[in-house]
This record gives sequence, C-alpha cells and structure tokens, in this order.
Amino acid sequence: SVELNAALLPLDWLLGTWESDEPGEGCFPTIKPFRYTETLNFSHVGQPVINFMFNAFHAESKKPLHRECGFIRMQPGTNRVAFIIAQNSGLVEIEEGELTAQQLNLQSQSLARTSFAREPYVQQISRVFQLRPDGRLEQTVSMATDNQTLMQHLHITYRRSS
Ligand code: HEM
Repeated sequence: SVELNAALLPLDWLLGTWESDEPGEGCFPTIKPFRYTETLNFSHVGQPVINFMFNAFHAESKKPLHRECGFIRMQPGTNRVAFIIAQNSGLVEIEEGELTAQQLNLQSQSLARTSFAREPYVQQISRVFQLRPDGRLEQTVSMATDNQTLMQHLHITYRRSS
C-alpha cells in the first residue's frame, strides 16, 4: 500500500476504520434525545489529503441516518487543519481548526445548503475529535441554528476496528 504523504503524518492516528463502541448520544433543545451508532473511515492514496466517510445509523432499528464524506488537508508547516465536508442532508461545509497533540478543534468557516433545505438552517458547527489515552476516539459536535445558539448535538466514542 502507498505511503502516507509526509504532510499528513501529524494525523496518522486517525487512519483506518472506527466503530462506535456504545451508542452515541444526540440532543438539541428542539428535538427528542436519540441514540445512534456510527462507522468512520479515514483513508489516503498518497496525496496530501485524507479521504473520509462517516455513516450513522439508528441505534435500535439500524436504519441508515446521517452520512457525511469529504477530505482533510493540512496547511504545510503549520498545525492548521481543514475539513471539506458534504452531508446527505444537503449541507456542505468547510471547517478549520488546530491540531494539538491528538486533539482536533474545528469551527465551520463556511456553510451552504440546497435551495430547498428544511428549516431551521444550521448557522455554525464546531467539533472536537480526540484520541483518548485508552485508544478510543471521541467526537463531540455542537451547532447553532436560526433558533438556537451553539449547543451540543452529538457525542460519541469509537473503537478502532481496522
Ligand atoms: C436533527 C443538523 C449530525 C441525527 C437535526 C437538526 C439539525 C441537524 C439542524 C434539526 C434541529 C431542529 O429542528 O432544531 C446536523 C448536523 C450534523 C448532524 C449539522 C453534523 C455535523 C447528525 C448525526 C445523526 C443525527 C450524525 C445521527 C443519527 C439527528 C436526529 C435529529 C436531528 C435523529 C432529530 C430528528 C430530525 O430532525 O431528523 N440535526 N445533524 N444528526 N439530527 Fe442531526
């Protein structure tokens, strides 16, 4: 298999497939709390880019729900990271932030949506990915909408599956 581009070595801990170890928790002031499972895959083809796919499912019915995919780039010579993301809901976004140790703190820089997206519109997203000392990966997502200031929407931990 092709070697990881040196520009992305600081993110090598993300590569591979991750499965939620226990169901993640979804919440927001305007919705009923819910539980979900999710599989993450991070891969590369030697470019200075990581390719990713996140697929979430209803915890009980196993029905596919939210999906996102995209690309991760790093600004050469810095700890600045960009996520370029497309979501099945019709939302696309650029998130940028900093890598410190094995933690990524990202903020949306731009958001766009289909002309016929349902309201309320998402106005801001922030996420944290963290590789914990026990080897688990943790993701926390907060969002702001037309009606709500920045609040947590998702929290989940994953175990590496390959
Ligand atoms: C609801 C955005 C990821 C499951 C919502 C709402 C928004 C939203 C705007 C409606 C809130 C309201 O009505 O006030 C997002 C964004 C995500 C994301 C921006 C990623 C960055 C996920 C994931 C799941 C999920 C991974 C996992 C299954 C749900 C559910 C609801 C919901 C079940 C409530 C029912 C519904 O409105 O469909 N989300 N979401 N979301 N989200 Fe997410």
